[in-house]
Amino acid sequence: MVRIGIIGAGRIGKVHITSISTRIKDAVIKTVADPYMNEETKRWAKSMGVAHVTKDYKEIIDDPEIDAVLICSSTDTHSPISLEAIRAGKHVFCEKPIDHDVEKIKEVVAALEGTGLKYQVGFNRRFDHNFEAIQQAVAAGKVGKPQVIKITSRDPEPPGIDYVKVSGGMFLDMTIHDFDMACFLAGCDATEVYVQAANLVDPAIGEAGDVDTAVITLQMENGAIAVIDNCRKAVYGYDQRAEVFGSEGMISISNDSQSRAVLSNSEGVTAEKPMYFFLERYMEAYGKEIAAFIDAIENKKETPLNVMDGLRPVLMGLAAKKSYEEHRPVQISEIN
Ligand SMILES: NC(=O)c1ccc[n+]([C@@H]2O[C@H](COP(=O)([O-])OP(=O)(O)OC[C@H]3O[C@@H](n4cnc5c(N)ncnc54)[C@H](O)[C@@H]3O)[C@@H](O)[C@H]2O)c1
Repeated sequence: MVRIGIIGAGRIGKVHITSISTRIKDAVIKTVADPYMNEETKRWAKSMGVAHVTKDYKEIIDDPEIDAVLICSSTDTHSPISLEAIRAGKHVFCEKPIDHDVEKIKEVVAALEGTGLKYQVGFNRRFDHNFEAIQQAVAAGKVGKPQVIKITSRDPEPPGIDYVKVSGGMFLDMTIHDFDMACFLAGCDATEVYVQAANLVDPAIGEAGDVDTAVITLQMENGAIAVIDNCRKAVYGYDQRAEVFGSEGMISISNDSQSRAVLSNSEGVTAEKPMYFFLERYMEAYGKEIAAFIDAIENKKETPLNVMDGLRPVLMGLAAKKSYEEHRPVQISEIN
């Protein structure tokens, strides 16, 4: 049985608490920490079988009975808490991104060396049934040599401006999942990033110094070209699709919806909208990523994603930022 401490009980912390208490048999949550822990969260955590709640995450770090921590707090805490947890000998599951600063991620890489501890990063989309199917087909050679990878990733609505200001910008906050997906589908790293981006959804996002709409092209190491199109607002819901075109064929996935029902009448033929957002679309995937982390600890296996998988998309995000600012293709080697 793996004993877990969860740091951060916001949106994603609650997702992982729910998964562990409802569907993972080999793990138990001993403590949940959040400085804004209130009575409502406390009651809810108890209802999920959590033994103890606290406002101070150091109680988790200092608890010798806790084997693994899930870092689900705000992004600026990820790398410092990772270092503390590793030094305390705990396995770590860290939400994306590990940090916006490459040097700080490298400190985490160095701290892990020789410890034998597991470190997994929260790129949950790899565990989604659709993305998993497309990746497995490509890896099995079913489309031949990949030539064009297309990823569409649009949110149903933009986050609040306060969030935008601390998010690190769209490329490091949102596109980071798509950068990971491009590498996952291609089976290799990217060497070059080129961005065309704009502020078309909400002028306040532009005033905060960010973009909300982008087309990003990537040169992948294996020769394939990847295209990501992003928008912070799609009026029809969470739009998450991908296609891989290769020398022997093409494979694509469409959105998940609540049902496959299609209504045909005198006004037209209508299907359901895509599921609303990530909590609806990826709940199953969030459960599977934590199950894989627990499995790696219990059965002494490699985690499906490691700290280097956390570094790569940050390098791509920083290259994207530079490409947008300098209006030119940027090599990953310029960042790393
Ligand atoms: N993988 C995904 O799909 C996904 C989805 C959403 C968020 N995230 C990531 O998860 C992180 C949290 O996002 P969220 O949407 O849950 O945010 P949130 O604001 O809802 O929750 C963050 C929580 O962390 C707490 N916190 C801050 N500092 C802390 C500390 N020192 N110790 C303990 N708790 C602390 C806050 O009080 C808050 O309750 C972000 O880094 C975000 O990028 C990942």
